[in-house]
Amino acid sequence: MNKVIMLASTVAMVLCTSVEAQPNNAPNRPWLNPNLSPEARAHDALLAMTIDEKLRLVFGYSDQALTELAKVPDDVVPAELKTYVVTHQIKGSAGFVPGVPRLGIPDQTQTDASIGVRNSFIPSTALPSSLATAASFDPEVPRAGGAMIGAEARATGHNTMLAGGVNLAREPRNGRNFEYTGEDPLLAGTMAGALNFGIQSNHIISTMKHYAINDQETERTSLDVTISAEAMRQSDLLAFEIALEKGRPGSVMCSYNLINGRWGCENDYLLNKVLKHDWGFKGFVMSDWGAVHSTADAANDGLDQFTGFCCVTDTPWFGPNQLKAALASGAIPNRRLDDMVERILWALFDKGAVDNPVKAAPIDYSADAAVSQKAAEESLVLLKNDGDLLPLRGVKSIAVIGGNADKGVIAGGGSSDVTPVGGAIMIREHSFLPSPPLEALRRELPSARIAFDPGNDPASAAVVAAKSNVAVVFVTQHDSEGYDGSLVLADNQDALVAQVAKANPRTIVVVESGGAIFMPWLNQVPAVLEAFFPGIRGGEAIARILTGKVDPSGHLPISFPASAEQLAHPEIPGLGLPNDTPSKITYDEGSAVGYKWYDLKGFRPLFAFGHGLSYTSFALSGLAAKPDGRAIHVSFSVRNAGRREGKAVGQVYLAPADWRKAGWDAPKRLGAFAKVDLKPGQTKMVNVTIDPRLLATYEAAGDKWHIRAGEYRLMLGQASDALTQSVSLTLPDAVWSARTAVAD
Ligand code: BGC
Repeated sequence: MNKVIMLASTVAMVLCTSVEAQPNNAPNRPWLNPNLSPEARAHDALLAMTIDEKLRLVFGYSDQALTELAKVPDDVVPAELKTYVVTHQIKGSAGFVPGVPRLGIPDQTQTDASIGVRNSFIPSTALPSSLATAASFDPEVPRAGGAMIGAEARATGHNTMLAGGVNLAREPRNGRNFEYTGEDPLLAGTMAGALNFGIQSNHIISTMKHYAINDQETERTSLDVTISAEAMRQSDLLAFEIALEKGRPGSVMCSYNLINGRWGCENDYLLNKVLKHDWGFKGFVMSDWGAVHSTADAANDGLDQFTGFCCVTDTPWFGPNQLKAALASGAIPNRRLDDMVERILWALFDKGAVDNPVKAAPIDYSADAAVSQKAAEESLVLLKNDGDLLPLRGVKSIAVIGGNADKGVIAGGGSSDVTPVGGAIMIREHSFLPSPPLEALRRELPSARIAFDPGNDPASAAVVAAKSNVAVVFVTQHDSEGYDGSLVLADNQDALVAQVAKANPRTIVVVESGGAIFMPWLNQVPAVLEAFFPGIRGGEAIARILTGKVDPSGHLPISFPASAEQLAHPEIPGLGLPNDTPSKITYDEGSAVGYKWYDLKGFRPLFAFGHGLSYTSFALSGLAAKPDGRAIHVSFSVRNAGRREGKAVGQVYLAPADWRKAGWDAPKRLGAFAKVDLKPGQTKMVNVTIDPRLLATYEAAGDKWHIRAGEYRLMLGQASDALTQSVSLTLPDAVWSARTAVAD
């Protein structure tokens, strides 16, 4: 029987003071009638609200407010509101927005983030990083993960998850790439959308973040990004657009940086035009914590909710007084405040947060950890396996070396850092989750002799390796919100791998990292497994893949560069300067992000986007394509040509015969993908549809998508650099409004 751990009393205590919607749908409270549409309910509730009630919904508090708010003068935050906040807020959560008890409108209790509920006082279950689950190439993985972490959010009293990171991995060193879903808009949008869909299946709100082009952590609060509308719409914003369509998040979190000279949370183009007008987004835009810089400009340029206020030192841009003054002077029209509030109400009604108030509930941590383990088992990427060294079978002795593999697996830092049951293990200020691969390997291989060496001294690790049949070296690379990482392994780990490989040519490297790393030792080792930040059961997942209990089926959602010279921007602007130094970057590579950039430049990466090996082999054949309106239906078959069950990932790339004439920034784009589970000898047919936006260019003049007439090749394979079949189609010219996606 699963071990069920009741929640800490903190949660129960917090929840008994929470506002719960009254199940009263009497005619004078029509907004509480679940049979009415969310639009009608939001409108009716708005009509019933006083100005002060409206102002409550647009101004949120960070958890530091619990201790700091008392110092804020009453004319900034009225005393009654302060008391309400400190008596209702959940200690340790990201934020809180007071509800309107009189009308049955619940508080918004906000928790980070995409990997699980983040609250250092409440244990919860960590999924593998979002980049890892994107590597599954199966939206069911983030959906199931989202459903699990969303249920934990509910059970811990939260009705809003600040999840759904979908910034493209333009900058491989971005410290938050692990919170995002890779470098390709179709893959990233599909996977982040699936996560949000899963989270919101718990009748809570999720966000999509950080909108937009927030692709480096260095100077994130002062960086001005220059990028053309065309490039954005075809790449970074397309990822958000797809995520919005698939996941329908109730909220979008605007980002810290500036985009083309305007703050992310004060950006008429991104917020009003693209998000609300073109995509028909009905929910609300919340600010990232501390990302607001004005009252009237932010409100008029599309921000609906200021979040994260705490302290005397913060400027209360959307505080009651500021907003009242701006309304009185006409700087913000009254209808704009109504729109802000109606959008928030709409999200609360549409996502079910009003009809299904959050309640403290027991969490079955063991069942939830199993969801996380399955996600990891679908996501780890076998990068290299020369001579079929893996899986480990019949090995008598193994040297496990380095990476704190005797203690756990590393996790990412910052606002997505999840506290596991029993607490995280802190090793030199980095969190490790208590899932030691060493112990898991010993369980999987009870008759093997498994020695451990911490790897601090490469020479002594090499001695241990030389005495074993096989060496497994664990390397870890920390990444965190707040600063960018390095692609060079820290702490002499490259030397460790090289020396161990010299002592034992049967060396396997397991990489636990936020994203890509350089591997100067790659030619010296026969096998490499990329485990990313693998979550609360990462050790078990690694052991089960190394020993062959599970067939590896992850594929890279990012390219691994071979050197810094291959990067579109070898230097990170602002690196080494004090925080908040005004900095600039121009993304003149346009939409040529990741593999598109490598194709454009003719660079050979260390490992290509989409790459991932299996213990069996697959044969793809019968590629056929048939236009259907602007879309294309594609079919192909996949056969398991090996001797064990496994999962293939079929990838269809699109390539105009002349990509420049087609208006593209690079030679090819991912058009579709499908993961297929196959028994040995089994064949399955796969049908996928190419979204016409992936064939088109965005034309800012006229706000249109445009497929230029001509010949297009569709190429099929199991990685962006391993395409084995192609068919060609001649497509006619097609132009359509970019204002379609959500509204249609
Ligand atoms: C992060 C957000 C997070 C927020 C609240 C910010 O620093 O950028 O992703 O949701 O804090 O914790």
